[in-house]
Amino acid sequence: MDILEIKDLEILAKKRVPKMFFDYVNSGSWTETTYNENVSDFQKIKLRQRVAIDMSNRTLETKMIDQKVSMPVAIAPTGLTGMQRADGEILAAQAAEEFGIPYTLSTMSVCSIEAVAEKTKKPFWFQLYVMKDKKFMERLIDRAKEAKCSALVLTLDLQLLGQRHKDIRNGLSTPPKLVPKHIYQVLSRPMWCLRMLTTKNHFFGNIVGHVDGIKDVRSLGSWIGTQFDQQLDWKEVDWIRKRWGGKLIIKGILDPEDALLAAKTGADAIIVSNHGGRQLDGASSTINILPEIVDKVGKLVEVHLDGGIRSGQDVVKAMCLGAKGTYIGRAFLYGLGALGKEGVTKALEIIKTEADMTMALCGRRDVHDLNIDNIYTKNNL
Ligand code: GLV
Repeated sequence: MDILEIKDLEILAKKRVPKMFFDYVNSGSWTETTYNENVSDFQKIKLRQRVAIDMSNRTLETKMIDQKVSMPVAIAPTGLTGMQRADGEILAAQAAEEFGIPYTLSTMSVCSIEAVAEKTKKPFWFQLYVMKDKKFMERLIDRAKEAKCSALVLTLDLQLLGQRHKDIRNGLSTPPKLVPKHIYQVLSRPMWCLRMLTTKNHFFGNIVGHVDGIKDVRSLGSWIGTQFDQQLDWKEVDWIRKRWGGKLIIKGILDPEDALLAAKTGADAIIVSNHGGRQLDGASSTINILPEIVDKVGKLVEVHLDGGIRSGQDVVKAMCLGAKGTYIGRAFLYGLGALGKEGVTKALEIIKTEADMTMALCGRRDVHDLNIDNIYTKNNL
């Protein structure tokens, strides 16, 4: 099968990853309206085709939080990446560093910070959830510092977990509820199982062994269920910023007022995000709200965007509307589930080629020159 677009990787991943883990990626909360609109709102945006403009010598190179990137795309933090493919976080981080883009490791990853640091050469970014167990948080921040992570991506939109129906139906809880149907789902992907037998990374590597009283998966389940900090506020954000002391990116901003509060913390960037449509169903898509947020804080802080990016065209559209960088979650996870590290590289190549060709046909040679003039605004926006 020719792999020409991210959809091809998705089709292959579906055949190779056990259903419960494939569905974990392919789901949003409740009716999945926001999850779907993250994608469909990108498709509604029309680009302006320009002709007879020199399109030679193009570049997508830029900087995100002062770090050089080969294109304005980073790998988003995604939970359970190591369940798409054995050692998934390590493979994706290696693919990202070879491609010259940032990799963000999730708190809820399977491979630990230390395991990823050991198998990579360049610093990666670490995503932090705010938990009630402050001792655990302090240790986690310190571990990210010790691993020389070059940015902390602080997620603010998960004070409680949105309800994703597919996960409940698939018994994807911690610990997993294994009934015969689910055991069949796993055994029907023998290559996936064989690869899993070759690694010791099977649980939440950042948590097991690092929390007082958590010895096994069962006690871990009840700990996670109660740990997200519902009392999180901007004071706590400030405490985290000070304890970390390095580059800070605030993720989960979907409102211009919150964007302003986030910018005032002194963060280096914010990510316009609705958690891939997995939290507040019924909220705006990210590309729809981006212009308002850029308008409010674009001069104060770097604005990034995630959610709905499935092609290089989407990256270009986000840049035209004022983003300084974007993140892919599902797009790289499909690559990982389909073909491992090679699949992640393939996803990045597809996105880079599409972004480059789109930019050229819009009459631009440098990613920094993309702006609202490249968008057809008469009947939309
Ligand atoms: C959190 O990690 C999620 O599943 O969205």
